[in-house]
Amino acid sequence: MYIEVKDACKNFVQDGNEFVALDHVSLGIEKGEFICLLGPSGCGKSTLLNALAGFERVSSGSVTIEDTEVTAPSINNITIFQNYGLLPWRNVLKNVELGLESKNVPKSEREQIARKYLDLVGLNGYEKRYPKRLSGGQQQRVAIARGLAVDPDIIFMDEPFGALDAITRMKLQEDILNISRKEKKTIIFVTHDIEEAVFLADRIVVMMADPGRIKSIVKVPLGAHRDRTSEDFLYVRDKIFELFNLKTEGYIEYYI
Ligand SMILES: Nc1ncnc2c1ncn2[C@@H]1O[C@H](COP(=O)(O)OP(=O)(O)O)[C@@H](O)[C@H]1O
Ligand SMILES: [Mg+2]
Repeated sequence: MYIEVKDACKNFVQDGNEFVALDHVSLGIEKGEFICLLGPSGCGKSTLLNALAGFERVSSGSVTIEDTEVTAPSINNITIFQNYGLLPWRNVLKNVELGLESKNVPKSEREQIARKYLDLVGLNGYEKRYPKRLSGGQQQRVAIARGLAVDPDIIFMDEPFGALDAITRMKLQEDILNISRKEKKTIIFVTHDIEEAVFLADRIVVMMADPGRIKSIVKVPLGAHRDRTSEDFLYVRDKIFELFNLKTEGYIEYYI
């Protein structure tokens, strides 16, 4: 297994009380999979993502990538957050070149690579603009281009489209889906939006709160090209919705 979480627990102390953010979580991910971590706010999605990306250690159990324990963020992976994280004093091109600079890619190559990925996210012609003159959707596109430019093995995304309006969000979902097919990256994507998860994921990790745990891991039986208005899509969306309403305690084997 490429990525493996084994019996992971994460406890936080809140107001002197121990709080269980992850309760015996186990999960295996194959190279090239698009995984969505889906669940209500507070169910531990970010905690699990942060443990996978190396920003936080689990309290017990293990998190491994290619059989190596994750103890710190790796330069082979990138993380994209909701707030874009662009440097305001750098133009679009220079923002995308940022990761390439830290990888010591020569200057001439940097620009060429940055332009390729700006083109891929549909920002051809925006190279000289500064972030403050871009919409939220465009800023997130720059962040995605910057992430892809370093040719990462794994892309971690924590509600990356959470701050965008519904129409922009749909467009970016389509783009990230197309990019993931084209670039064949492993993507782990956090969302609380059922439709977003059904649109994007190969498998959905359905999580529950109090304590944060995995309720089910569901394979999405839809092809590469997804249509939110199709009967198949709506059927799968309803099935995931029903899963949230099942009162059963513990892990559920759930097939759609
Ligand atoms: N650093 C922290 N200290 C204390 N409690 C935390 C910390 N980080 C997260 N938590 C708690 O753990 C739970 C899960 O948080 P989080 O992983 O952010 O959930 P989600 O991303 O699903 O909304 C929440 O109840 C949150 O308050
Ligand atoms: Mg979160």
